[in-house]
Amino acid sequence: MCGIVGYIGKQEAAPLLLDGLRRLEYRGYDSAGIAVLDAGEISLRKRIGRIANLAELLHEQPVKGRMGICHTRWATHGSVTNENAHPHTDQSGALVLVHNGVIENHSTLREALVREGHRFLSETDTEVLAHLIGKHLAASGEPVTARRLVDALRTALQQVIGTYGIAVLHRDVPGVLVGARRGSPLVLGIGKGEHFLASDVGAIANYTREVVYLKDFDLVSVQADGFEISTLPGGSSGYEISAVDFKPQDMTMGEYPHFMLKEIFEQPETITDALRGRLSREEATAKLGGLNMSNAELRAVERVVLTGCGTAFHAAMVGEHLIEQLAHIPAEVEFASEFRYRNMPLPKDVLVFALSQSGETADTLAALRESQRKGHRTLGICNNVASTIARESDGGVYMHAGPEIGVAATKSFTSQCAVLTLVALLMGRIRNLSSSQGLRMLDELEALPDKIRSILSLSDHIRSIALKYCHSQAMMFLGRQFNYPVALEGALKMKEVSYIHASGHPSAELKHGVIALITPEVPSVFLAPQDGVFEKNLSNIEEVRARKGPVIGIGTQGCRRLEKICDDTILIPQCPDFLSPILNAVPLQLLAYHTAVALGCDVDKPRNLAKSVTVE
Ligand code: G6P
Repeated sequence: MCGIVGYIGKQEAAPLLLDGLRRLEYRGYDSAGIAVLDAGEISLRKRIGRIANLAELLHEQPVKGRMGICHTRWATHGSVTNENAHPHTDQSGALVLVHNGVIENHSTLREALVREGHRFLSETDTEVLAHLIGKHLAASGEPVTARRLVDALRTALQQVIGTYGIAVLHRDVPGVLVGARRGSPLVLGIGKGEHFLASDVGAIANYTREVVYLKDFDLVSVQADGFEISTLPGGSSGYEISAVDFKPQDMTMGEYPHFMLKEIFEQPETITDALRGRLSREEATAKLGGLNMSNAELRAVERVVLTGCGTAFHAAMVGEHLIEQLAHIPAEVEFASEFRYRNMPLPKDVLVFALSQSGETADTLAALRESQRKGHRTLGICNNVASTIARESDGGVYMHAGPEIGVAATKSFTSQCAVLTLVALLMGRIRNLSSSQGLRMLDELEALPDKIRSILSLSDHIRSIALKYCHSQAMMFLGRQFNYPVALEGALKMKEVSYIHASGHPSAELKHGVIALITPEVPSVFLAPQDGVFEKNLSNIEEVRARKGPVIGIGTQGCRRLEKICDDTILIPQCPDFLSPILNAVPLQLLAYHTAVALGCDVDKPRNLAKSVTVE
């Protein structure tokens, strides 16, 4: 949510900054802006809309300079206008700042600053922070130096309540870029004679292979040939230099027209990567060293809580079924945004899983911290290496799915389900599962990538179904047990990318109210694999057919009965029920994708959304 990039070095800053910003566009795309410093002069350009609009402006009005900062915005405070676009300046106009996060006490600070004569140009919380730093800098009336800039930043940030990842530069301090973080990610990229700041390593992976993931309360002062990291209160801060763990081409679309399609098609490989090195045939179980828990500790777990937001929440719901069915441990799921404010009575030996692709979602992070405050052991299931949730958990499992750029989550859902299956297998094997059951599970897990490939080969067929129904008023997604969360996820994908209203329900709940919505204009997508509730699903389909509602059935290959009663079917390979969420998610992702493309929607950047929501 909001992306920032900063550069200082030997090269012209604007092209590098713009390139980095394009790679961060998934974090927000309401407006974009850039500030570059050259020969004591700041050139500022901003424009509402996509980064392409800013690029056009830069073409018309180029900027020059070897240091600069830029921003792509997902609006929180203040509507989408050029005035509200970042960078923001202080009262003097000499200090510019970009910000990701929310300054919660911005109104009080703004009022005090207005009383002191400050005049604001925007409605944003960020401009308040710029003015506050500027005020402290101007206080002594002495010339501005790097040291004084850092001191002013420290003083201002100590008055601020909220979250921030910021980058700041000042006209009178040409060789220094300053950054700080609290609650919003910030990465320092190390180059030869040049350095970068960015919200996400993906923005700078083309230019550097070495980074420092800054911690909360870190303040970094960056020069072309060096950097200094301290803590906000003023002490020294330890840091670790990490290697960038993915290739720049992971951030490009390659032969695909959209990231979403690329990421759907990557799933045979991302599932393989989630399983790699984690299957032990010898012991017929999963090996998950990152959990940092002994078998005795895992055996003592009395209850599991899984939390997350959006798609990660749906994966958590799948996890609830997996852990209860395979490990016989009572499990429950809770939206992270609810969990953080809910005083859930939990036993001592509870294990809390925080699921997050980005590892930065504010609500999930707050839920994790709340669990830790209560003394619960917390584990993270994240994709982004060294993300805040991954770092702050007591242990966890990385998804290894590679960067997910499409705003609608696809491959991260199936990877989260695969990782949760491994967790359930491991916990089950030290309790109730036999070694032959464990081995069968390993076989089935290993068969997943080929089965996903065969579903992907149905993409054209799914496209023809999408073309048939893309002008529907609304859509229903229905499934039972393991497939109820998949129905929710299918509906979410459809809403996110095609803007068709869609809702997911347990199939049998249909008759308790939802059936009132069924008309010939409202198709229902039924997840009806040949499992223990297949017959029940068929009855629910008949109920819809009796009301002239069109039905798209997702079922098992060779299932003639489903073909006979549905208007359209997508038949996929057989698998045990505990793996069906992974397979069933794929046709629903493709259905949403092809529907959105048919309707001319911007699938990778749906309106109003941001990939990583780092505000509450
Ligand atoms: C946002 C995105 C969703 C995503 C959710 C959780 O709302 O638009 O696609 O599922 O955040 O993200 P996370 O990174 O925590 O998995």
